[in-house]
Amino acid sequence: MSQLSVNPLKVAALYVAIGTAWIYWSDAAVDALVSDPGMRSLVQHDKGTAFVVATGGIVYLLVRAHTRRMDAEHRRREDAYDQTLAGWAEALDLRDHSTAQHTTRVTTLTEQLARHVGFTGQALVNVRRGATLHDIGKMGVPDTILGKPGPLDDTEWEQMRRHPELAVQFLEHVEYLRDALDIPWCHHERWDGTGYPRGLAGTDIPLSARLFAVIDVYDAVTSKRPYREPMPHTDAMALIRAGAGGHFDPAIVAAFEALMTNIRTPTPECTPRFPLPIR
Ligand SMILES: [Fe+2]
Repeated sequence: MSQLSVNPLKVAALYVAIGTAWIYWSDAAVDALVSDPGMRSLVQHDKGTAFVVATGGIVYLLVRAHTRRMDAEHRRREDAYDQTLAGWAEALDLRDHSTAQHTTRVTTLTEQLARHVGFTGQALVNVRRGATLHDIGKMGVPDTILGKPGPLDDTEWEQMRRHPELAVQFLEHVEYLRDALDIPWCHHERWDGTGYPRGLAGTDIPLSARLFAVIDVYDAVTSKRPYREPMPHTDAMALIRAGAGGHFDPAIVAAFEALMTNIRTPTPECTPRFPLPIR
């Protein structure tokens, strides 16, 4: 993509040249046209003020155009990052034999829930990226385990349970993903401390990972699998409610219920914000 490149030294030199020429020629013109010394001084003063105002306006327009160009470039770069992550996630979904669009669905819903409980700005971007990459550590799990049709034995489970830590190993050196690691690292932790890999409990589990844990289970049970039919929404919500205080943060379960009510039966009375604080 072509981009106009401006040499700051040339711009400064042009400004000095134009400014000097203006001062020289305009002073000469005032001297020639105004004979009264008092009036000449007044005109010189107004001329200087007009010059400052005019150049200030030009600087404003230049800075504004440059800022807009930088913003557009930043958005293009962010979109390119996100498209790359989506490509990785899609590749993993194929390798993991996940249900179609699993990652897209959980990412969309997690972002909605995060916004619902008050995430904004870069924190929301980190949630979206973390959800997209939640199982990226499975790239380090052998195909024989990922694609195994039957139940895993203890050794295989042990390898499978390494995927959150593998995600950290993969991503911690990628600077723009460093703040998006909470979900890949902590999405199998449980509110009661019985999860993995670190056995974190309660609010020691990052909030984004607590949000995602609910969504991941909801999507898993409501998706069709080769060995079972999808669970109806009502039953899935009952399952999530039953997990409050054990698997899930009760406050997040309540927020998820409010969000799903709003998504499925939007009403003006159902406000989209969950009453904070959730921490
Ligand atoms: Fe996982």
